[in-house]
Amino acid sequence: MSSVHILGIESSCDETGAAVVRSGEQVVSNVVFSQIATHQPYGGVVPELASREHLRAIVPVVRKALADAGQSYQSLDALAVTQGPGLAGALLVGISYAKALGFALDKPLIAVNHLEGHIHAVLLEERQKGHHEVGFPVLALVVSGGHTHLYLAEQKGQGWSYQNVGHTRDDAAGEAFDKVAKLLGLGYPGGPIIDRLSTHGDSDKVKFPPLQIKHRDRKDRDQPQEERPRFDFSYSGIKTAALRYVETHKMQEHIEARRKALAAIVRPKLEDHVRLCDRDTLDLVASFQRAMVEDLVSKTLAAARAYDVATLFVTGGVAANNELRQRFERDAAMEGLPVFFPSRSLSTDNAAMIAAAAYPKFLAGDFAPADFSAEAGLALKEA
Ligand code: KG4
Ligand code: ZN
Repeated sequence: MSSVHILGIESSCDETGAAVVRSGEQVVSNVVFSQIATHQPYGGVVPELASREHLRAIVPVVRKALADAGQSYQSLDALAVTQGPGLAGALLVGISYAKALGFALDKPLIAVNHLEGHIHAVLLEERQKGHHEVGFPVLALVVSGGHTHLYLAEQKGQGWSYQNVGHTRDDAAGEAFDKVAKLLGLGYPGGPIIDRLSTHGDSDKVKFPPLQIKHRDRKDRDQPQEERPRFDFSYSGIKTAALRYVETHKMQEHIEARRKALAAIVRPKLEDHVRLCDRDTLDLVASFQRAMVEDLVSKTLAAARAYDVATLFVTGGVAANNELRQRFERDAAMEGLPVFFPSRSLSTDNAAMIAAAAYPKFLAGDFAPADFSAEAGLALKEA
């Protein structure tokens, strides 16, 4: 088949994205409008504000993606949009717009699971580099502000099939980064700030208890134990441990002063953060990141061994973390396991990954019915 141009649209959380991807392997354009400035004063994403901002951004973002790609609406082969999981109101903005556009242009519309998008971000970039052979099964860690999931992925005909072999029982890893950053008065989103500050602290200073799961899900208790081993995560305990550390080390006054000082700076830089952090804070930040990275890497590699996978993918916003990448590269190499990450711009939410994940569905003629809608809790379908 000659090249296929798919316009992807993403609006599941706080980023409005539109992108054109050629045949699932070449990013022709990729536009992301971030709402961080809108949500920053609240220290987290405010769903109503997210929907409003998507409404404002969607038309210009799509226009720019087409203009950057040198494409017209008519020259597209198909449209793809995130169906879920995500914030219902935010998802609906992208879906309503994509539906209207598809109807007006008489182009097929493909509904994409956001998590499948994150997984395809890795594949898209590998293909872009000319690397077409990926060994199966793949173990994919999708780690972001909303998710910490482990999927075993296999290729099935034109498409992919997925089996969930682990997920967080409480907070997602990115959420833990964001909450600890908020607790320390460092601003939002916390992941990138903690990432950069960590190199300034001593990661051995604060000992966090092992991040173990204390209770089985009620849902699981009522069901017979599954045969296949699971590798679940839990990140609410580490947040409480950080809070306790702050209290016992009487850090509150210092934190309040930092919060105020940072709020007064329009775009705080790393130097501002470093200047406003004492040794205790820097050590806590570095130790927190070390504990998170060790838990994510050790559980993922244990799952990789248990399922004897051929390849590891690490994707989602937290996959942008420097220490996480280095640790995965080092430890996976010791086990002879190839590990792939998207570049940082395709790690966080974007529409190129949605257009890429839509390509096998386009080839299979898997188009969305006219009455499909947003699904805030959409699961990645099992084989
Ligand atoms: O994938 P994403 O853009 O949105 C969701 O689907 O959630 O991920 C955003 C999350 C936020 O929690 C943010 O703090 C985290 O990814 N994040 C990071 C880094 N960059 C973004 N966490 C750790 N280190 C980073 N460098
Ligand atoms: Zn995401």
